[in-house]
Amino acid sequence: MAAPRAIGIGLLGLGVVGSGVARILTERADTYAARVGRALEIRRVLVRDPRKPRPVELPPGMLGTDPEAVLGDPAIALVIEVMGGEQPAYEYLCRALERGKYVVTANKEVMAKHGPELYELAARRGVDILFEASVGGGIPLIAPLQRDLLANEITSMRAIINGTTNYILTRMARDGTDYRAALRQAQQLGYAEPDPTNDVEGMDAAYKLAVLASLGFRMTVRPGDVYREGITRLHPREFRYAAELGYALKLLAIATRDDHRVLARVHPALIPAEEPLAKVDGVNNAVEVVGDLLGRAMFQGQGAGSMPTTSAVVADVIDAAFRIAHGGEGRPAWRADPDAQVCPMSELQTRYYLRLTVPDRAGVLARVTRVLGEQYQISIASIIQKEADETARTAEIVIMTHLASEGAAQAAVKSLEKLDVVRAVGALIRVEGQA
Ligand SMILES: NC(=O)c1ccc[n+]([C@@H]2O[C@H](COP(=O)([O-])OP(=O)(O)OC[C@H]3O[C@@H](n4cnc5c(N)ncnc54)[C@H](OP(=O)(O)O)[C@@H]3O)[C@@H](O)[C@H]2O)c1
Repeated sequence: MAAPRAIGIGLLGLGVVGSGVARILTERADTYAARVGRALEIRRVLVRDPRKPRPVELPPGMLGTDPEAVLGDPAIALVIEVMGGEQPAYEYLCRALERGKYVVTANKEVMAKHGPELYELAARRGVDILFEASVGGGIPLIAPLQRDLLANEITSMRAIINGTTNYILTRMARDGTDYRAALRQAQQLGYAEPDPTNDVEGMDAAYKLAVLASLGFRMTVRPGDVYREGITRLHPREFRYAAELGYALKLLAIATRDDHRVLARVHPALIPAEEPLAKVDGVNNAVEVVGDLLGRAMFQGQGAGSMPTTSAVVADVIDAAFRIAHGGEGRPAWRADPDAQVCPMSELQTRYYLRLTVPDRAGVLARVTRVLGEQYQISIASIIQKEADETARTAEIVIMTHLASEGAAQAAVKSLEKLDVVRAVGALIRVEGQA
């Protein structure tokens, strides 16, 4: 009997991830063929520059610059998109799905901005789009949210999902270095891009949170719905004071759901040092999910890198190829909850860390506490006076509040800045303990 026909694969992109995927699909071809029941064969690869040296060897003539050579080849049943960026990746994914091809992508930006349209298009064409690698690199997150946690109502997700910023913050905490020096180290080690804006301003984390929240809460959360603050203004002093107070300082991506109301945000936050998330250091990623049946679970591991990401992409390829080979309906459909809505950040209730520079003299604290307590009903949990600058005759005070609303906290900062006894508001950082 003739061997069953191989499943043709088209690869869009042959960079860090694409090269890993091509290498592993080639080296482990026999193992995966046995798992799927049919061979997997890369037929065409789209790149920008076919003459560029590559860390993986592919037969001559396989690389090209014409997307139609991949998307229009009827022998290609599965397209892997590892190009990155919104366009032309989104357009190519639509074209692949329109033509009834299964799609695997690692592209968080496209999934965050256009996920619901792509699920719908895939369903209409009777195929599927798989995107495990788009969030958390090799850490299984998407499949658990789409399958293993389906019996739950997910109420909260808290995550460290950007390795670059977590590396920078870890360096600042451990070495007492400032943001610029820690960024330079990250760039020298290849953990930060020459232009780090997307990472350090929280955009990358917001894309990933939009993907996780949309899946976990079954609603459409777009990147623009995610409140976002980056790490560039953090002062080394905050790490020292945070540690003294028993906290770690991290860039957190948090999405919470209360009934049909969802709040999604990315910003620096203090977390109690004994919590597992506080101990996730360096380029590692972790996502903590709370479900009403499951309770609390944490997924942790390498959130980027060629091989961890290849692990997730190839798992999706095997899953899709198995369905192409044997049929099967895939997974329960994603449908947006029509009643769900995104709340404004001003509705957040949390605790705050506030650092002020004030003149080193009597009566100052009373003025500050009056503004917080009487004007904005923000009650104070503790006040600590930190070092004084004798030449400037100023002192620093760190105030930890009880639960307060974001709207009140922001308004209070504006009022404090106008007080003649406040030289500067050095920091306002949210404090996030386990809910
Ligand atoms: N790197 C990671 O650790 C990681 C982790 C998780 C997810 N991801 C995601 O995986 C995707 C790929 O990342 P990467 O790090 O592998 O990127 P990369 O190294 O920059 O590779 C991109 C590849 O796509 C090709 N390409 C880009 N734009 C193209 C266009 N307009 N037409 C044709 N080819 C084009 C490039 O061709 P040339 O080689 O000819 O320039 C290159 O081969 C992104 O969505 C990224 O967010 C990456």
